[in-house]
Order: sequence, then C-alpha cells, then structure tokens
Amino acid sequence: GTTLGTAAAEKGRYFGAAVGTYKFGDSTYMTVLNREFNSLVPENEMKWDHTEPNQSQFNFGNGDRIVSHARSRGMSVRGHTLLWHAQQPPWAQNMSGSALRNAAMNHVTQVATHFRGQIYAWDVVNEAFADGGGGGRRDSNLQRTGNDWIEVAFRTARAADPLAKLCYNDYNTDGINAKSTGIYNMVRDFKSRGVPIDCVGFQSHLGSSVPGDYQANLQRFSDLGVDVQITELDIAQANANAYATVTRACLAVSRCTGITVWGVRDCDSWRSGDNPLLFDCSGNKKAAYGAVLDTL
Ligand code: XIL
Repeated sequence: GTTLGTAAAEKGRYFGAAVGTYKFGDSTYMTVLNREFNSLVPENEMKWDHTEPNQSQFNFGNGDRIVSHARSRGMSVRGHTLLWHAQQPPWAQNMSGSALRNAAMNHVTQVATHFRGQIYAWDVVNEAFADGGGGGRRDSNLQRTGNDWIEVAFRTARAADPLAKLCYNDYNTDGINAKSTGIYNMVRDFKSRGVPIDCVGFQSHLGSSVPGDYQANLQRFSDLGVDVQITELDIAQANANAYATVTRACLAVSRCTGITVWGVRDCDSWRSGDNPLLFDCSGNKKAAYGAVLDTL
C-alpha cells in the first residue's frame, strides 16, 4: 500500500484520524485526509456537550457530516464518546444522583440510536479510571451515581446499536501499570458476567518513548477476548522510532484492529507545540510518516 489506509488494510486493519468539521473547508487538510485514512473519529462533534447541549434537545448535525463523509468514501467511523466526565453540557454538570443517571443513560440511548448501524466502534465510556497507583475509578458526577454506571452504559449502548463494537477507552494505560490493571480487572469481570464489552481503546498520547511492555499490555487485554485499538495516537515531536514501535505492536497482536492518530497535521493537534502528528502544517509527510508506512 502507498497510503496509511491501504497499507493497514493489507494487514487487515484500519488507519484512522480524528477530524473536526470546522476544517472540512481546508483543501490541504481534506486532500491528506481523503488520501491517507480509511477511518474517521470526530475529535469533538459526538461528545455530550455537542450532541445534547440542552437536555433532550439533540444536535447531530456535525456528527452526521463526519459520518456521511466517511461513508461516501468507504471509511469506517469510531464514535467518541457516549459518556465522559469532561465536555459535559452545563446542565449535566450540575446534576447528580438518579436524575443524572437517567439523563446519562437516555443520552446513551438517543445518540447510539441516532447513529445505529453506522459506527464501527463506540467509546461507550471514556477515562473513568484514576491516574496514579490506586487502580480505582476516577471521582466524577457519573461515578457518584453508583459504581455500576459503566456496565449499565454498556448494556444500554448494546440495546441501542447491537452491531457496533462497544469499547472502554482511556489514557496512561499504555503499559502494564496500576491504572491499566484496574481496567483489565474490570474487563475481565465484565466478560465473566456477560456485560457486553467488545474492545478496549488505548489513547496513546505519548512522550517521545513507548513503554517497553506496550505490546504485552495490548496482548493481555486481547487475551481476555476483546479487540484492542490504538485510539488517539500522538507522540512528542513525532518520534519516528516510537511511531514505528506502536505500529509494530498493533500488527503483532492479532486482535489489534486499527490505529487512529489524534489529528491530521501538527497544526490540527490539541498538543500545540509538540508537533506530534504525521504531517506538517503544509500537509507534507514527516519522517514518522515514513516510519509508520514502512512498518505497516
Ligand atoms: C480533546 C480535543 O482534541 C480537543 O479539541 C478538546 O478541546 C478537548 O478534548 N482524551 C480524549 C479526547 O478522549 O476526547 C480529547 O480530545 C483528548 C484527550
């Protein structure tokens, strides 16, 4: 393959990018996007604050634009994200208890139903575990509605869109550590009790090196019977060796189904100053691009 998407497809995987509809009028951006990638994820457009700005008033306009662009070009779509402690609309931030629980699960139902049949994998729950050595849940308004909120969200999502793969997604889970082990234990528990979970996303917002047990960590999750995906990859200064290492790790794990980079060009990145992506601001391929393509 001569592009990221075609090369990944030859290995039975996808290579995707996070996108924003506000850049769809930028021809340099669209040229790279349409040439290189065969999967898209909205960087912001499917988050709670965007999709339900007022309670029970849904706005799917920009999410639909991304889905229709992807579908017209044969790209798959990752949905990001149904429930998260961040980027909640103000009305939800101010809720608690059963009112919040009901509003959250209604949100899952409405959004997953709207996009039913069009999403390859949903990040049903994003970033629900705490950093540091405890391995436990992050405190949040959602967590305070009861520890079962995650499994209820997965069951609710499955009922709304039975064909989408349902993922748990998080960061700082790129090696074997207390946080990733806490998630591992949750996934094992879900599998043993029949809670519908199909995949785990590893955001992989990395410094310039990759944990030595990165591949082993992907492997231990896939050994639980779930797919794994690299969902938000970006690497400080786009270290080419690190990009190659992540790519190699995904190819080495048979249930690693794809890689998504968190933006197209450095200027599109949320990590301003880190130049962490595969294309420079003019849309030129960087060294890391060649390292990834050669590895695929
Ligand atoms: C980031 C977006 O890139 C920014 O545009 C936005 O302002 C904040 O969110 N983990 C996630 C993503 O799961 O949704 C975040 O995206 C980056 C960290």
